[in-house]
Amino acid sequence: MSVMELDIKISKTPNSRISEFNQENIQFGKQYSDHMLVAHYEDGAWGTPEIIPFANLSLSPATTFMHYGQAIFEGVKAYKDANGKARIFRPQDNWKRMNKSAHRMAMPDVPEELFVEGMRKLIEIDEAWVPTAAGSSLYIRPFMIATDEFVGVRPATKFTFLIITSPAAAYYSKPVSIFVHDEYVRAFPGGIGFTKAAGNYGASMYPDQQIKKMGYDQILWTDGFEHKYVQEIGTMNVFFVIDGKVITPDLNSGTILAGVTRDSVITILKERGIIVEERPISIDELEEAYKNGKLTEAFGTGTAASVAPIGKLTFHTDEMQLRPVEEWEIVNWVKTTLDDIRYGRVADTHGWILPV
Ligand code: COI
Repeated sequence: MSVMELDIKISKTPNSRISEFNQENIQFGKQYSDHMLVAHYEDGAWGTPEIIPFANLSLSPATTFMHYGQAIFEGVKAYKDANGKARIFRPQDNWKRMNKSAHRMAMPDVPEELFVEGMRKLIEIDEAWVPTAAGSSLYIRPFMIATDEFVGVRPATKFTFLIITSPAAAYYSKPVSIFVHDEYVRAFPGGIGFTKAAGNYGASMYPDQQIKKMGYDQILWTDGFEHKYVQEIGTMNVFFVIDGKVITPDLNSGTILAGVTRDSVITILKERGIIVEERPISIDELEEAYKNGKLTEAFGTGTAASVAPIGKLTFHTDEMQLRPVEEWEIVNWVKTTLDDIRYGRVADTHGWILPV
């Protein structure tokens, strides 16, 4: 990947918090690195971006995004190779997806050099915050908010783009238990399900609270018309291994996020000669395959979650308990293969890595 020119102002903190960073106890989203990137959009143009010390924002209580949710985000990760050099995984793909979200949410495009080179520069400055412990990474959160000081409902004219970063370890430490929901809906065709809009996550909080009380980790959403076909998990896309084939819901209805990890997994599975089907998959089909012993593996994929095995899947009172993960072939292979690329243990033959 090439590196672009970017006019950027840099003010480094005189008070680094790096000595407070304990690599032995990393908890997702709890600690942020020393700096952040900020850029403002006004009068149809982006101003010069700045990298500044991580700090609170000062905003009017009338700021648009707080009221109407004109806010989008991305998730990207940087990894350290055996020589301690940081590398960012597929930032250009997240940039493209961010602009798809921006378009649907009537927000301005973020220029590639601002997103990609701004991110690279930020990670270069905060490279000490990219952890080295096995399975760890630096989670990168680019996001954009509408910042008009106006409580009337209309698309905003002022926006702020930011990137913050946070050391991350495994998002799920054990196989996840999933409740298949047929009451609440995440997304409809024509809606914003394919975007990474803040509102998609806000709307999931209540159902999420309910299933957590029942002892489940995550919801597998179903389609909004018949509650018949599975969609995605919200923090992850979903994959099933049935009869040796890998099956994942297709993206055609516009209700499912086009995950970058999803795409990476499909690519490397196909390269290994494994059949991958992107198509509608019904709960009936899953239950049938489970009963016949053909549903052998199930997993979620996402930037934060990486590749996360699903231990149990429940629909109504029907519990589908999968075999111990240690016996699974595909999920363990795909996770190792992806990690080998991310951590630089094998050559980057796909052009997925941006060296910092
Ligand atoms: C990600 O995987 O980057 C996500 O955005 C999922 C979640 C942490 C919101």
